[in-house]
Amino acid sequence: MTASSVLPLFNLAPQLEPHEEELLQRLRETLQSRQFILGDAVIHFEEDFARWLQVDHAVAVNSGTDALTIALVALGIGPGDEVILPALTFVATAESIIHAGARAVFADIDAATFTIDPEAIAEQINERTRAILAVHLYGQGADMQHLHDLATRHNLILIEDVAQACGARTQGKLLGSWGHASAFSFFPTKNLGALGDAGMLVTHDEEVARRARELRNHGQTSRGQHRMVGYNSRMDSFQGAVLRQRLPLLTEWNNQRAAIAEQYARRLAGVPGVTRPATAPGNTHVYQLYTIRVPVDRREHIQATLNQAGIETGIYYPTPICRLAPYQHLQRPLPATEAATREVLSLPMWPGLSESDVDRVCSTLKIAVESANSS
Ligand SMILES: Cc1ncc(COP(=O)(O)O)c(C=O)c1O
Repeated sequence: MTASSVLPLFNLAPQLEPHEEELLQRLRETLQSRQFILGDAVIHFEEDFARWLQVDHAVAVNSGTDALTIALVALGIGPGDEVILPALTFVATAESIIHAGARAVFADIDAATFTIDPEAIAEQINERTRAILAVHLYGQGADMQHLHDLATRHNLILIEDVAQACGARTQGKLLGSWGHASAFSFFPTKNLGALGDAGMLVTHDEEVARRARELRNHGQTSRGQHRMVGYNSRMDSFQGAVLRQRLPLLTEWNNQRAAIAEQYARRLAGVPGVTRPATAPGNTHVYQLYTIRVPVDRREHIQATLNQAGIETGIYYPTPICRLAPYQHLQRPLPATEAATREVLSLPMWPGLSESDVDRVCSTLKIAVESANSS
């Protein structure tokens, strides 16, 4: 097999190549500004992002992980508090709760959307519960209306992890604008990617934003004055400049992802054993990942067959977080989460993926499923 015949799970080239000159110009301007940490490039990106999302405050940080941790700390969540989250997510979601000093309480997911189930949350609420940390997985929102109602009813803080769903909406409202605070990741493969690590914390609450700005800069209020124990989590100016150039392209990129998802859906309709991703009513899906389900006893064979044909796939995530070593003391039965970790398989997805590549994935997948059925 030649290297060119490998079809990767992610491919950043089609998003970079047509815009390379403009990106270089932005980077040159930043170089000439002599501002390399925060600075005008980051301030302008924060302003653009807040306007686009229709939130009052956007605070640029070093990563999505830091955006989550700083959001929790800025909201005053810490020792003695419980935060409810799903176990089917990237480990960073749980890390942020532990780093804030609170206890992570895992709740099961809705099997159709892979996002946290409001009824499962309700069972976990007690007098120590302070917050719900919802994750918008693979590109679509958790059940925000129910979560919002639940949080209001129990006087809980609602936080959104939007790392995988930048630009997706629920009931027409952009994700990240529902909660008390929300965290975005601009990891390069995300829907809005930087050229390195970067993240954003957003909130409607002025006091939370002020605390977050201090926390990202060592708790500093003014030179030499430090009110809180903070972090070094300032976005660098090059990433701010890149992200500002890319934000206006996000809708077109997300539209391309949705069109590719439709091509997949058409070609995979009726393939026995393959469950296509479902979009909940009221949601738009931005397909950070195109994740299908396949039968548990055939996933390994299907993935190996695709791999042999040069098609990369991914498993997000192979283990519920609470079964990973550092979190085992927080384990509880999560049957829908367990089932998902054994059945999910993500197929190549990136803006610019061609129709013939989708054909290639789907025809190989069909052969893989059939040979798994007969073996
Ligand atoms: C759901 C989720 N939360 C948080 C993060 C952490 O973001 P970052 O890698 O920017 O720290 C990621 C990144 O993969 C993620 O997918």
